[in-house]
Amino acid sequence: MDLSVIILAAGHGKRMRSRLPKVLQPLAGRPLLQHVIDTARALQPASICVVYGHGGEEVRAAFADPDLDWTLQAEQLGTGHAVQQGLPGLDPDHLALILCGDTPLLRASTLTALLDAGGPDRLALLTADMDDPTGYGRVIRDAWGHVAKIVEERDATDDQRKVHEVNTGVMAAPVGLLNGWLGNLKADNAQGEYYLTDVVAMAVADGLTVAAVRAPVASETLGINDRAQLADAEAVFRARAATTLLEQGVTLADPARVDVRGELVCGQDVVIDVNVVIEGRVTLGDGVHLGPNNVVRDAVIGAGTNIHPNCVIEEAQVGERCEIGPFARMRPGVELAERAKLGNFVELKKSVVGPGSKVNHLTYVGDTIIGANVNVGAGTITCNYDGANKHRTVIGDGAFIGSGVELVAPVEIGAGATIGAGSTITKPAPDDKLTLERAKQVTIEGWQRPVKGPKKR
Ligand code: UD1
Ligand code: CA
Repeated sequence: MDLSVIILAAGHGKRMRSRLPKVLQPLAGRPLLQHVIDTARALQPASICVVYGHGGEEVRAAFADPDLDWTLQAEQLGTGHAVQQGLPGLDPDHLALILCGDTPLLRASTLTALLDAGGPDRLALLTADMDDPTGYGRVIRDAWGHVAKIVEERDATDDQRKVHEVNTGVMAAPVGLLNGWLGNLKADNAQGEYYLTDVVAMAVADGLTVAAVRAPVASETLGINDRAQLADAEAVFRARAATTLLEQGVTLADPARVDVRGELVCGQDVVIDVNVVIEGRVTLGDGVHLGPNNVVRDAVIGAGTNIHPNCVIEEAQVGERCEIGPFARMRPGVELAERAKLGNFVELKKSVVGPGSKVNHLTYVGDTIIGANVNVGAGTITCNYDGANKHRTVIGDGAFIGSGVELVAPVEIGAGATIGAGSTITKPAPDDKLTLERAKQVTIEGWQRPVKGPKKR
């Protein structure tokens, strides 16, 4: 059967206590709904319909992708009502897969198993065995072990609440059958809502098979209603990413203390210490060592490079065998050639550092091209901004910039030039010569330091 996916994302998510609609709350740096959409896409369905409502335009605006169909559920009258809004556009002979925007950890392989259990004359239901089933709908089975119905926690008897098999909110059924069942829903329950879950008892009454597929790991069916569940999901996500890295041969000092919120590609023998956060697309070459407390976003780090603790690296290209940090900050647009060194309290922006060059201490380098084997002394600042425009600094190969120098851009330092400490350089400095700008040192004879008088009361 052809597949059409409906994602329910109209609910308020009151229990999050947030201004942001629940499905936009970030998990591993991406909205909950994004995770669900990505998983749905992996199934290559004929269409994906997102039912939206609460936070309407804000939710739509967050997902501009043209492959999504949006259906407004103006009033949130329950999950059954929500599915009803999405059905009219769909081919009655398609298999509808219902996903919830607040269930972001499901794997495509689990959904494929569910779809395999579905068919033209049956309803396939994804269930899970939860250690703590609190808050979920319970799967009630008859004396023969067949699924009979789903009872929401708030409508359940004490005995029913003891059931650990829960409804994950995911089901697959033919569009035509769903349409018929949903037309007969009643809101005679504790929440006064039209429950999607009531279609299970309807399918049974029609003499159809309800095929329950248990999720292989309960944690992937975690539904997120509050901050505690969001934190749980983050931990599941983190553990998954860490397991993948370990399997690929990466050394992790503590798998519970590395967060991969994007795509991380690692070479051989990469070592990642604690409290590292990876965002966007990051590639670490063979033997890269990432020390503790590093944040790396959208960067390529060359083989053998050592990133010492507490660096922030964004949109950077780092060559092989570089040494970075501790406490270095690379803002977007930095390229380091091989064997370059950035030391502590050094900030770089939109700059190129040539092979073997060193910028070791307390320095700001912006809009600058540094050649090969340059030494930039402590406390050097490129004055690249005049309040309105940014200007460039160019430093030739083998130059030596003394400590505490201000390079007032636009300015060019020749190859092999030496700049005396403390200079404010505003004009080109020629190749191979010492250039310095410094007032003459004077000593004032007979000068006396002021002395404090007795304290007045
Ligand atoms: C639902 C299920 C419950 C299941 C649990 C799994 C029902 C009645 N209950 O409960 O059996 O164990 O999910 O996580 O289906 N939504 C709409 N429109 C609405 C109401 C909800 O789009 O009018 C969306 C929400 O945005 C959410 C999803 O449907 O993404 C589930 O709604 P929620 O209120 O979280 O249902 P649960 O109480 O968690
Ligand atoms: Ca939920």
